[in-house]
Amino acid sequence: MNTLVELLGIDLPIIQGGMGNISNAKLSSSISNAGGLGTIGVGTLTPDDVEKMINEIQGLTNKPFAVNLPIKVTPFIHEMVELILKYKVPIVSLSAGNPAPFISKLHEHGVKVMVVIGAVNQAVKAEQAGADVIIAEGYEAAGINSPFETTTLTLIPQVVDAVKVPVIAAGGIADGRGLLAALALGAQGVQMGTRFVATQEAPFSKEYKNKIINANDHNTLIIGRSHGQIRRVLEGDYASNLLKNEGEYSNQEFAESTSEKHHLLGAIEGDDKKGFMNSGQIAGLISNEPTISELFEEIMQDCRKKLKNVVNQINL
Ligand SMILES: Cc1cc2nc3c(=O)[nH]c(=O)nc-3n(C[C@H](O)[C@H](O)[C@H](O)COP(=O)(O)O)c2cc1C
Repeated sequence: MNTLVELLGIDLPIIQGGMGNISNAKLSSSISNAGGLGTIGVGTLTPDDVEKMINEIQGLTNKPFAVNLPIKVTPFIHEMVELILKYKVPIVSLSAGNPAPFISKLHEHGVKVMVVIGAVNQAVKAEQAGADVIIAEGYEAAGINSPFETTTLTLIPQVVDAVKVPVIAAGGIADGRGLLAALALGAQGVQMGTRFVATQEAPFSKEYKNKIINANDHNTLIIGRSHGQIRRVLEGDYASNLLKNEGEYSNQEFAESTSEKHHLLGAIEGDDKKGFMNSGQIAGLISNEPTISELFEEIMQDCRKKLKNVVNQINL
C-alpha cells in the first residue's frame, strides 16, 4: 500500500518540485488536477506575489497542492509561513535550509511538511524534527544541489533504511522506468522538475523548452563549486562563461550572477547569453512537450509495463 498518496490526498505518486520565481498557478493546478501534487515555488517572490498565486491556484483546483519554501533563499520566510496558515495550504515543502524551527507551527495548523534533503544525516534530523515526508534529492537534479554530490541511485535506499516516514525520490526521473526504479529502491513517489519544464502548460520560453528537448546526457554543467553554491544548469554562453571564470568572482559577485534576475532572463526570456536555465541530467531523455495529463498517462502505463518486463526477467 502506498501511504504517501494517502497522506497527501493525491491519486498518483508524482510531485512537482518547487520552481521558485518562474513556475505559475496554471502549471501547478494542472499537475494537481491530473492527480499529482502541484507545487507553488516561492523563490525570492514577495508575499504579495505569492498571495496572488495561492488565490489563483485555489480558483483553479480543489485538489491538494503544496508551496515550496526555500528557507535560505526567500527573504520572507516568516511572512510566507503566515500566508500558508492564512490560506490553509495543505502541504509545504521546505528546502535549502534548516527546517526544524518551522515544523511545529505548521503542524499545529494541520499542514503536512515535506523536507528536501541531499544526505542521510539530514533526512534523520528532519524526521526527528517532525517531517511527515522526506524528499531525497540526488545530484542529477536541476537547480541548487547538495555539496555532497550523492546520486539518486545511492541516496534513496540509504535514506529509506534510515527513516520511517515515506520517502520521495527526486533527481533524474522523467518516465515510467524512473518511477518504477524509485519504487523498487523503497521510495513511495517521485518529485520531478526538469520533465515538467517541457510540457504544454509550463510557462517557460520556447528556447528553454527546446534546449531541454534537444539536450543529450552530458549537456548540463555544475556551476558554483568554488563558491559553495552548487547549481546544475544547461550549457549555454552565460552558464559556460560563469563556469570558466567563477574563480575570479567573489562569493557576492557569484551570487549576483546567479540571482533570480539571470534565472528569469534564461528561463522566461530564453536568453542564454544573459541568463541561465536550470536542468537535470535527465534532460537527455526528454524529447517532446506533452500536456500534463498525457505525460501522467504515459508514465503510469510505462511503469506498469516495465514492471511486467522486470518480473519476466527475474522468472527466467
Ligand atoms: C526550473 C527549476 C527551478 C527549481 N527551483 C527550485 C526551488 O525553488 N526550490 C527547490 O527546492 N527546488 C527547485 N528545483 C529543483 C526541483 O524542485 C526538483 O527537486 C528537481 O528538479 C528534481 O530533479 P530533476 O530536475 O532531475 O527532475 C528547481 C528545478 C527546476 C527545473
